[in-house]
Amino acid sequence: MAKKDLDWGSLGFSYIQTDKRYVSRYKDGAWDNGALIDDPFIQMHECACVLQYAQTVFEGLKAYETVNGQIVTFRPDLNAERLAQSAARLEMPVFPKERFIDAVKQVVKANEDWVPPYGSGATLYVRPYLYGSNPVIGVKPAEEYEFRILTTPVGPYFKGGAKPLTIKIADFDRAAPRGTGHIKAGLNYAMSLHAIVQAHAQGFAENLYPDSATRTKVEETGGANIIFIKGNKFVTVGSPTILPSITRRSLEYVAEHYLGLEVEERDIPLTELPEFDECGLCGTAAVISPVGKICNGDQEICFPSGMEKMGPTIQKLYDTLTGIQMGRIEAPEGWIVPVE
Ligand code: PLP
Ligand code: COI
Repeated sequence: MAKKDLDWGSLGFSYIQTDKRYVSRYKDGAWDNGALIDDPFIQMHECACVLQYAQTVFEGLKAYETVNGQIVTFRPDLNAERLAQSAARLEMPVFPKERFIDAVKQVVKANEDWVPPYGSGATLYVRPYLYGSNPVIGVKPAEEYEFRILTTPVGPYFKGGAKPLTIKIADFDRAAPRGTGHIKAGLNYAMSLHAIVQAHAQGFAENLYPDSATRTKVEETGGANIIFIKGNKFVTVGSPTILPSITRRSLEYVAEHYLGLEVEERDIPLTELPEFDECGLCGTAAVISPVGKICNGDQEICFPSGMEKMGPTIQKLYDTLTGIQMGRIEAPEGWIVPVE
């Protein structure tokens, strides 16, 4: 095994092609055996359902090299379950959970030289995705599908690493009540592109979407859930229109069982924002990225933790979560899945 010769410490969150990818095809009501392949290009019918009607869902997880030199993934069972929920909502066949976990292990193992070394600050991002591949012109689900997994080494999602972000309350809506906000569908991200380009042009790192029904409550950002600290409380959003982040659910456990915080998952009115001590965005890509300021039109909400570094409690959450992922801190049963 020889690690690739990359400057791991300076990686951003962008695509670098690795050696192998996984593909399994669904036809006549069944998945084939699946295989690792070399070709990063996909040849597809011009009228494939994914191209015409965006029938695609995806996942995101990471592979880590631990302090002991072992390669592991973090809670892939929950990614498999969420992919199944996403697939069901878009009338797609489910890729079985055991096969999903096995495929993740296979593709990470096949790209082990691309797993960034322990301590480099980088990780191997793993992107499973599923799409309708046969020609469809009337609006209906495809009959044939491809499930694929690509991998790419990544550094921090936000430029500047752990520096607190300035974000804005979005001018646009993300997820309608009874819509698709709770699943990881490509369509949710396509519709966020205009909003993120505008936010970046205005100098903001991300959009914080309010609930689209009333625009009075905090929901989540384009690519992460949001968490707050208020005294000894870990406060986060409970809403049926946000993505159930695996990182956020893990942090709720860490907050309660490792750090002794009180966990609240509930509605958070925008008017409560000035009452919080610390704020962060959490997700596989974001890990925990601290937020220093939220702008809502002309109103600026500046958290007491400031713009220089993470607040003390968010820092503890970050250290504990990444400590678990990198093998420095004992993990709850089943969280860490070794890639043999
Ligand atoms: N919310 C959205 C909209 C996301 O795209 C993501 C990224 O996956 C998350 C939240 C965080 O979810 P997770 O922690 O499972 O990666
Ligand atoms: C992830 O965190 O895995 C995501 O899919 C978020 C995306 C914005 C990169």
